[in-house]
Amino acid sequence: MEDQVTARLTEMLGAGAVLTSGTDQARYLSDWRDRHRGTARCVVMPKTTQEVASVLRLCGELGVPVFPQGGNTSVCGGSVPSEDGRGIVLSLERMNRVRDVNARNNSMIVEAGCVLAAVQEAARAAERYFPLSLGAEGSCQIGGNIATNAGGTSVVRYGNTRDLVLGLEAVLPDGRIWNGLRTLRKDNSGYDLKNLFIGSEGTLAVVTAAALKLFPLAPTTLTSFFALNDVEQAVALGEKLQKQFPGELVALEMMSRSELEIVLRHIPGSHCPLGEKGQWQLLVELTSSAPPAALTEQLNACVEDAMTEGIVLDAVVAANEKQREKLWHLRHSVTEANKREGMGLTHDIAVPVYRIPDFIERAGAMLQRDFPGVEVVVVGHIGDGNLHYIGMLTHEAWRNTADKPACQLRLAHALYDIAIAMGGTFSAEHGIGSLHLDEMRRYKDPVELDLMQQVKQLLDPRGIMNPGRVLPPRAQ
Ligand code: FAD
Ligand code: LAC
Ligand code: ZN
Repeated sequence: MEDQVTARLTEMLGAGAVLTSGTDQARYLSDWRDRHRGTARCVVMPKTTQEVASVLRLCGELGVPVFPQGGNTSVCGGSVPSEDGRGIVLSLERMNRVRDVNARNNSMIVEAGCVLAAVQEAARAAERYFPLSLGAEGSCQIGGNIATNAGGTSVVRYGNTRDLVLGLEAVLPDGRIWNGLRTLRKDNSGYDLKNLFIGSEGTLAVVTAAALKLFPLAPTTLTSFFALNDVEQAVALGEKLQKQFPGELVALEMMSRSELEIVLRHIPGSHCPLGEKGQWQLLVELTSSAPPAALTEQLNACVEDAMTEGIVLDAVVAANEKQREKLWHLRHSVTEANKREGMGLTHDIAVPVYRIPDFIERAGAMLQRDFPGVEVVVVGHIGDGNLHYIGMLTHEAWRNTADKPACQLRLAHALYDIAIAMGGTFSAEHGIGSLHLDEMRRYKDPVELDLMQQVKQLLDPRGIMNPGRVLPPRAQ
């Protein structure tokens, strides 16, 4: 017998917008690494904000859980439904129109289901630049980026997604539509509600559209790759570049030799331009309004200086767009390569930048002592103090690990304890999803957590929005 909720949704949106068969639903029910799985009554794919509103109104009336989904690239189990099958997946993929690009105002309005790469492209077509960039940009959607306040590789210069959003349109759990699509740089007219929804991971509302900040296209881009002996040097080089290229340093991405080797092993066509030099690698990107020759000369002088000071072992500057793409390909392939390599226990920590070497040292010593045989793999946005600190096990070693969840939690908490003792965090850019509820309980200030619970109660009193994500259940 057909589920009554599904029947009502089909009546409302038409059969083409409601997926019911197991085969059709499959790709919406597990994440891309297949670490999180759920089930749902159906997957709905509304085309307009009004349709989203109708879906939420109905689900609100019936108390049916709604699991909003963008590109399903979440790495913390935020994007798949719960296992009980009571809810529906609300996919934004058909809401993918660019509504407006206003080059004079340096702004654009896009629907939530626009893939990030398409947003970048639409900006470029208007001779503007939208700076958010991450490895998943070919699949993740701007709505998902906003819901997770995604970081990525240009935070050093342009900030997180939050810094790039001027306004939002969102549908509340009771079906009301909030039109906050303003494109102003200044607007102090009351509480800044958009910032409440940004980073709320679909637990308060469904984002249906956003007004985004654009920037002029920089005529010159310079991408370089450095080999270094230790993390102290990477931080020192970062500081030097920040000082010498203020406003021009866009990316400062670090990876350990172990990470680079994994990429070289698994990603066809990947190649390290500096051979086997260095235990650590740094990818640096500068953009500038200065002509290429002037910027290159300045960068070369800085590199020479750094080599004389003993900070840098070797460096290469991409000579053309193809070489630049190859360098970025190394960086953007890490997640795919890690998936192929084995079981990567990933920790998305952040500490103040100057404490990164200290964190790496303490975490490494802890792993060696308490988790022998687990390989340390590090990739991170070093300019933001954000490291993806990964304990890598071969598939076989992971299969043979007794009590996997306990082992995972023990490692995670040991690492988070180190980060938090340094004024850091257990979730820098990936969010909480369903994976970090335990850490929310363990590390969040109780007053902060209580306020979050109250906000949730106020906006979503029936608890239909993405239940079981972000907020741990209250103790009875
Ligand atoms: P989904 O994964 O579908 O959803 C993520 C969360 O947002 C879920 O809780 C979902 O319910 C909610 N959501 C989605 N759309 C909406 C909406 N319209 N309204 C309300 N809630 C919604 N993250 C970074 O921050 N920086 C990185 O550098 C980075 N690199 C990555 C590289 C790779 C290869 C991969 C696979 C992932 C990476 N991520 C990174 C993680 C992920 O891509 C981001 O979290 C991204 O922002 C998620 O977007 P999405 O559209 O896939 O959202
Ligand atoms: C990255 C993702 C995993 O930085 O956040 O590659
Ligand atoms: Zn990242």
